[in-house]
Amino acid sequence: MRQDVIVILDLGSTQNTVVAREIRSLGVYSEIHPHDITPEELRAISNVKGVILNGGENRIVDGEAVEVRPELYDLDYPMISIDYPQSKCGTQLAGLPDSEQLKKFVFEDCKAQANWNMKNFIEDQIELIRSQVGGRKVLLALSGGVDSSVVAAMLIKAIGQQLVCVHVNHGLMRKNESESVVKVFRDELHANLIYVDASERFLGKLEHVSDPEQKRKIIGGEFIRVFEEEARKLEGIDFLGQGTIYPDIIESGTKTAKMVKSHHNVGGLPEDLQFELVEPLKQLFKDEVRACGVELGLPHDMVYRQPFPGPGLGVRCLGAITRERLEAVRESDAILREEFARAGLDKKVWQYFTVVPDFKSVGMKNNARVFEYMVIIRAINTVDAMTATVEKVDWDVLERITERILAEVENVNRVCYDMSPKPPATIEFE
Ligand code: XMP
Repeated sequence: MRQDVIVILDLGSTQNTVVAREIRSLGVYSEIHPHDITPEELRAISNVKGVILNGGENRIVDGEAVEVRPELYDLDYPMISIDYPQSKCGTQLAGLPDSEQLKKFVFEDCKAQANWNMKNFIEDQIELIRSQVGGRKVLLALSGGVDSSVVAAMLIKAIGQQLVCVHVNHGLMRKNESESVVKVFRDELHANLIYVDASERFLGKLEHVSDPEQKRKIIGGEFIRVFEEEARKLEGIDFLGQGTIYPDIIESGTKTAKMVKSHHNVGGLPEDLQFELVEPLKQLFKDEVRACGVELGLPHDMVYRQPFPGPGLGVRCLGAITRERLEAVRESDAILREEFARAGLDKKVWQYFTVVPDFKSVGMKNNARVFEYMVIIRAINTVDAMTATVEKVDWDVLERITERILAEVENVNRVCYDMSPKPPATIEFE
C-alpha cells in the first residue's frame, strides 16, 4: 500500500462514514471495520497509522453493548475514542462537530502522511487485483453505468485481456448508450468485450405486461439468464468483477446497523456458477468513484451521468411496452438531455427524464385531427432520492424542448411538465 491508513472501528456509530470522509478530506486514507476485528486482521492491513473507536447510538446490539477485543489495546497504534468511554485509549471525544481534534490526532499523534489520492489508490488496487487474480480470468457485467464502467477501466489497466466484459443490451437503453459502451471499451480501451443484443428477447417477454413490479422482475430475471448463458459459453473464468461501492455495503447492513436494502450488482446467479469476487471500488464513495473514473481516462459523460434505473426506459414507457412508445421515450429523452446540456442544466439538476403514458389525447397536425401520445418531462433535485423537489426550469428552455419534441418525435402531439415533489409522488412513474 502506498497510502497511510486510519482505521475506524464501528462501535455503533451512525457517523462512521462522516468520520471516514472527514479524514479522507484531509488527504489521508481511512477505512471502516467491524468492532470485533482481531489483532491479526488489523495488522494485516498495511500502513495502519492509528485507530478510532467510534461509538454511538447503535452500540447496544441484542441487549448488549458491543466492545472491541481487549487485545487491541496491547498493539502499538495510537488510538482515540469518539462517543465511546474507554480509559485504555488516548483521547476521548464526546462527539465529532470539532474537526481540529481529529486533524491533530491524524497528523500529530498518528504522524500520517496526506498521501491519499486517486493515482495512489489506483496503483494500489492494480497491485491487489494482480496478486488476487494471477494469470486467471475475470468476468464483468458491463452495463455502462458509472460503477461498472469504472471497475472495467480499472481491471483493463490491471489485467488487460484476462478481463472478459459482457454488455447486455436489453433494448431499454437510452439513445446511443450501448453504442457508446462498445466505442469506449472495445474501440478505445481495447477490452475483451462481448456485446449481446438481447432487445428482441426482452421486448418479447415484456409484451402485454403492464404491472410495474412484474416488468421489473422480468427485466431483472432475463438479464441474469442472458448473462448466465454467456458465462457458460466461456471457459476458465474464476472471478466475477463487481462494481460494489461503499454505500452498497453500508446499505446491506453492518454488525451494528440494520440492513436498508439488500444489494446485488449481479444478484441471483445460479449456485453452480461459483466465482470469487473482485471488488476494487468497495471502499469508495460515489464522488470518489467518479474521480477514479476520470483518473482512469473515462469520458466525462460516462463518469458524470445521472442515475438511471436498472430496468431502464422499461419503467418510463408506462404500462405495457410498445415499440412506438418506447421509441418516443428514447427520442424525447435524447432531446431533453441535449437541451439540458445546452442550457447548462445537466450540471445542476440531479435527475431528468421523460415518460410516455399509455393513453392518447386529441390534437391537430397539418389541419387534421390526430389522436396521439404525450411526453411528460420530469426534472428533480434531491440529496438521497428519498425526497425530491421539482427544478424550476426556465420557460424558454421548456418551450424549446417542447417545440423539438413535437417536431422530431413521432406519434406525439402533447408535452407536459411534472410539477409534483416526492412525496407524495415518487421520482419515477412506475
Ligand atoms: P423513486 O421512483 O423510488 O426513485 O422515487 C428513487 C431513485 O431510484 C431510482 N430507481 C431505480 N433504480 N432500479 C434501479 O436501479 C429500479 O428498479 C429503480 N426504480 C427507481 C430512480 O431512478 C431514482 O433515482
